[in-house]
Amino acid sequence: SAPSALSSFSFGIQPKVESFFGAKASCKNNILSLGAFKDTVDMFVERYKDKNISVVAGIEARGFIFGPPIALATGAKFVPLRKPKKLPGEVISEEYILEYGRDCLQMHVGAVKAGERALVVDDLIATGGTLCAAMNLLERVGAHVVECACVIELPDLKGRERLNGKPLYVLVESH
Ligand code: PRP
Ligand code: MG
Repeated sequence: SAPSALSSFSFGIQPKVESFFGAKASCKNNILSLGAFKDTVDMFVERYKDKNISVVAGIEARGFIFGPPIALATGAKFVPLRKPKKLPGEVISEEYILEYGRDCLQMHVGAVKAGERALVVDDLIATGGTLCAAMNLLERVGAHVVECACVIELPDLKGRERLNGKPLYVLVESH
């Protein structure tokens, strides 16, 4: 399926994703099914089209796949939250803890203004550290994070509990 091809092969959860998306989501040899991808994007667009989102913030790397089509369809701008030393301009940074070591997300200064309504998009939530860092970046510049949206949640890792009550919307749970 699209989500499994993009985000979850290494987690071994493809069968659950397929049972959610149905036969259309079948994936052979890790080749992305564009039909399943479109269905995935459509589900997010349906949820956010009337929520007055002004910025979709996509997290590198796979938030760059799901975020832009959602931004296009909802009329929002797309802002990339990138790994260190990728953005050419002045940035603000937020470090976070991963299962294996530390990482950091950066956002261009001026990309998001105070009062903007932001949607954070990534492929998957595990421990929640990545989404927390993304939300911190947006809130530091005065944006309002309306919700975080991921294709897949690994609920056993309780990442949702780390989001300080911020709503999280996912399409697939994998235990
Ligand atoms: C994976 C996944 C999420 C993050 C979730 O990205 O794509 O972004 O981990 O983990 P967390 O909820 O425990 O923070 P990864 O950092 O492996 O990098 P990538 O997206 O660039 O492959
Ligand atoms: Mg990632």
